[in-house]
Amino acid sequence: MKIEDLKKEALQKLEKSASIADLENIEKEYLGKKGRIRELSLSLKDLDLEERKQAGIKLNNLSNSLKEKLELKRKMMKLMQIQEKEEKEFLDITIPSPKIKRGHIHPLSLARKELEDIFTHLGFSIVEGPEIEDEWHNFDALNFPLNHPAREMQDTFFIKQRKREELSQNEKLILRTHTSNVQTRYMEAHVPPIKIIVPGRVFRSEATDARHEVCFYQIEGLLVDENVSVANLKAVLESFLQEFFRNKEVKIRLRPSYFPFVEPGFEVDMSCLVCNQKGCSTCGKEGWIEILGAGMVHPNVFKNCGLNPKNVTGFAFGVSVDRLAMMKYKIDDIRWFHSGDLRFLKQF
Ligand code: PHE
Repeated sequence: MKIEDLKKEALQKLEKSASIADLENIEKEYLGKKGRIRELSLSLKDLDLEERKQAGIKLNNLSNSLKEKLELKRKMMKLMQIQEKEEKEFLDITIPSPKIKRGHIHPLSLARKELEDIFTHLGFSIVEGPEIEDEWHNFDALNFPLNHPAREMQDTFFIKQRKREELSQNEKLILRTHTSNVQTRYMEAHVPPIKIIVPGRVFRSEATDARHEVCFYQIEGLLVDENVSVANLKAVLESFLQEFFRNKEVKIRLRPSYFPFVEPGFEVDMSCLVCNQKGCSTCGKEGWIEILGAGMVHPNVFKNCGLNPKNVTGFAFGVSVDRLAMMKYKIDDIRWFHSGDLRFLKQF
């Protein structure tokens, strides 16, 4: 009777066990050296031989079947543990990853690229030059007199150099104020015909406002050959603007102006696309917007670059990429470009 009770009790505990630790406790309690089965078998010595034998067999069977059952349950629990772990740590490498958001080309790069395409189709090569320039190439070679106001502190970023006043014009460094520095560099090194554009960054120590930045982009154009005329200049400017604004109606007009490196020099206006020349706030009711400087290359510039002005003629122009981009994409403030504001940049 006692054996049956013990068996019942052990099986119940086994039934309720929920962890490997539970199983170990049961094993120790019933099958251990000082366990309940052992305890019971020691108490058999008072029985007579036959009864002792029968009880011994029963106890032995109980011990064996309990061992087996414990082993079975332990195996099941281990399997379940592994399964749980696998479920927790499961990594499905076939799930598509979250989409990486696409970046945007900056509107200035967009405009620059488009301008480069237009001019290469017109037969111009793309040339670059240094942003840190010497005064000779930025000013003197371009026929700027030494006392020209453009050199003064409010316009030019001068670079601190030891004993600057003792250096030659070729050694005094500045941040270039226009891309015209590459006109002189290129003419020094190449023989005509020359047909280049020079995209690049320029720097001016100015107060910034909606239309002015200390750093902006220009594209310089230079064409040098025999018998170049203002008519050629006008034709190139008109067709590039018509292309850039995808509008055959774009007209330009030249107004006489002064740049030391051209003669005659012009400020070039284009017809206002916002109001179709009816007059609006963008063009100040003029119907025209000033967008570039241009002119016929000054004989002194040719001389300074080692070319004979009797043999060659040429035109040059300089246009702000920022202004063109502002007109094309209808941007009302130049400072947006360098603001790093994603709300602005994401529109392009
Ligand atoms: N370099 C002049 C500027 O930055 C523009 C210009 C270029 C004018 C070429 C005439 C010819 O204002």
